Amino acid sequence: MTGSIGVPIYPTSTYAQDELGKPRMGYEYGRVSNPTRDRLETSLASLETGIGAKVFASGMAAVHAFCNLMKSGDHLLCTQNVYGGVPRLLDQVMANFGLEVTYVDTAELHAVEDAIRGNTRYLYAETPTNPLMALSDITALADVAHRHGIEMIVDNTFMSPYFQRPLELGADMVLHSTTKFLNGHSDGIGGAIVCSKREQVDKLAFVQKAAGAILSPFECWLVLRGIKTLPVRMKRHDENGRLVADFLNTHRRVRKVFYPGLPDHPRHELAKRQMSGFGSMIAFETGSLANATRLLQYLRVCILGESLGGVETLIAHPATMSHAAIGEKGRQAMGITDGMLRLSVGLEDVEDIIADLEQALARL
Ligand SMILES: Cc1ncc(COP(=O)(O)O)c(C=O)c1O
Repeated sequence: MTGSIGVPIYPTSTYAQDELGKPRMGYEYGRVSNPTRDRLETSLASLETGIGAKVFASGMAAVHAFCNLMKSGDHLLCTQNVYGGVPRLLDQVMANFGLEVTYVDTAELHAVEDAIRGNTRYLYAETPTNPLMALSDITALADVAHRHGIEMIVDNTFMSPYFQRPLELGADMVLHSTTKFLNGHSDGIGGAIVCSKREQVDKLAFVQKAAGAILSPFECWLVLRGIKTLPVRMKRHDENGRLVADFLNTHRRVRKVFYPGLPDHPRHELAKRQMSGFGSMIAFETGSLANATRLLQYLRVCILGESLGGVETLIAHPATMSHAAIGEKGRQAMGITDGMLRLSVGLEDVEDIIADLEQALARL
């Protein structure tokens, strides 16, 4: 209406109606719809080449909304090595409502096919995974799912639509923690599901209205603001990520580096095919909890903290942070060790990030 370059924030709980039963432009109540939220949902749908999107109060609220598409007695297949909050929700909350879940290595198509049952409704895949950076072939998985009449949802948080677009590869829905690269500034929590079919959008709109875990207009605006710089940020994240991974990979105190951009990553060829960049998420093995603890003490530029995808470099200890909830046995099964650290390489001068890691590693 005004040509304002910034998208307006509509902080309103309700809307004036001109006549009984005739809400203006369809806006009735803030939980059901909001113009700032509509704008973000349109933007996310466009970025992921979907037909619509729905945003939620957090990434986990988006996963929960997705679970609400199922009912008691339904079966879900889920990537084994997912973000720790997902099994916490599935095993400790959704299981109480009769949802059945099987965790499977989605890199192994036969394992996925063997785990499908008559009551399987969805395949939930995360690629690359958190924190091991394991990759699954989205096109091949979607083929398996569709042959069995199952829909597939992909958590695309680590790559963002700038580097990977699962719907174009055959997935049916895409999930994001917008908290990460889409927001990009570590100043908001949010989640989204992008859909390829009208029916999915309608069902998730109903979940927004019925369950109410919507994203606030201000948080929507923060994500819209983040999206404006997504391409420049992702390019720099990727450049810095590659250089930091190369540095760690040749350092004598680092036992192993998990980064899809390294030629010795087991799915490097798939990474080149399915993603247009490798991103900035890197896991590496220091050998022991004592080494990891000491390294974290000495770092000055890399900040110890949960989360990822912001402008600043964050370093995390999956065993006691993101993957604490799955317990030691669960971590062992996944291959997450006490000596493993996960970096979300930020946008600082890469020389500063490498110098920081170098001085800390030298003191081990
Ligand atoms: C890959 C992935 N998916 C989902 C989530 C959950 O998102 P949120 O923290 O916004 O609830 C996270 C959080 O770290 C994540 O890393």
